[in-house]
Amino acid sequence: MNTTLPPSVLQTLVKCRGVTKVFKTGKVEVAALRGVDFDVGPREFLALVGPSGSGKTTLLNLIGALDVATEGAVEVLGQDLSTLDRAHRAELRLRRIGFVFQAYNLVPVLTARENVEFVLELQGVGAGRKRRALEVLDQLGLAELADRRPPELSGGQQQRVAVARAIASRPPLVLADEPTANLDGENAEILMHLMHRLRDEEGMSFVFSTHDARVVDHAVRVVTLVDGRVASDEARAGEAPHEVLKGIGKVRPGMVP
Ligand SMILES: Nc1ncnc2c1ncn2[C@@H]1O[C@H](COP(=O)(O)OP(=O)(O)OP(=O)(O)O)[C@@H](O)[C@H]1O
Ligand SMILES: [Mg+2]
Repeated sequence: MNTTLPPSVLQTLVKCRGVTKVFKTGKVEVAALRGVDFDVGPREFLALVGPSGSGKTTLLNLIGALDVATEGAVEVLGQDLSTLDRAHRAELRLRRIGFVFQAYNLVPVLTARENVEFVLELQGVGAGRKRRALEVLDQLGLAELADRRPPELSGGQQQRVAVARAIASRPPLVLADEPTANLDGENAEILMHLMHRLRDEEGMSFVFSTHDARVVDHAVRVVTLVDGRVASDEARAGEAPHEVLKGIGKVRPGMVP
């Protein structure tokens, strides 16, 4: 697999052309995506919205190389995903894409810190893994919970560990499936501000599905899916507010869900 990013990637991180996805369960076929054309550039802050069943998770899974399109082309960071076998798709995901699953997918026997460190280790980060893991957990208000295992954490806390794991290595592209679904207002704000800051300071691109109006308000671009198609693609006038948060991570214990 090509590991150096071609210059075209500087303009386009994701290119979807005529993407369809048909799920077959027995004799029943469900067309979850029906011809999606969609690009993601660098430094995006993009909310993917639409009714339940409109194809948001399906699209994120295709871009995140977790699943393959039935028809059409999905290109991510200069790689045509249809040309990659399963191992190379996993490699691309590990090295270049942060993925926040709706169901978190944390390793239950590892602590919050170990969950983050484990992925950094797979990514080849040598010295400083522990410090980096603790730093990102602290940014998400989890410093005091770093030694707890997922079953000892609330849903919202687990969700933030999953985000910490996805962003710890500063990948160019972060995909998040409803990242605030289990967060209260304050923690949703903290997450949005941290993501904005990483976009501004590190040039990372964020694409997140959401039903949460508070989250849509922070988006710089809003893409609406209806019935497996892009129904609208709107740039927001001006930038969303994203003052650098001071004291991020200093969430009062009572506010942690
Ligand atoms: N593995 C699967 N097998 C069969 N059908 C599926 C599968 N995954 C998704 N679908 C169907 O594809 C369509 C799109 O589902 P998807 O999960 O992408 O929607 P969504 O927009 O993420 O919805 P939600 O907002 O509820 O999360 C739905 O009709 C769903 O039932
Ligand atoms: Mg979904």
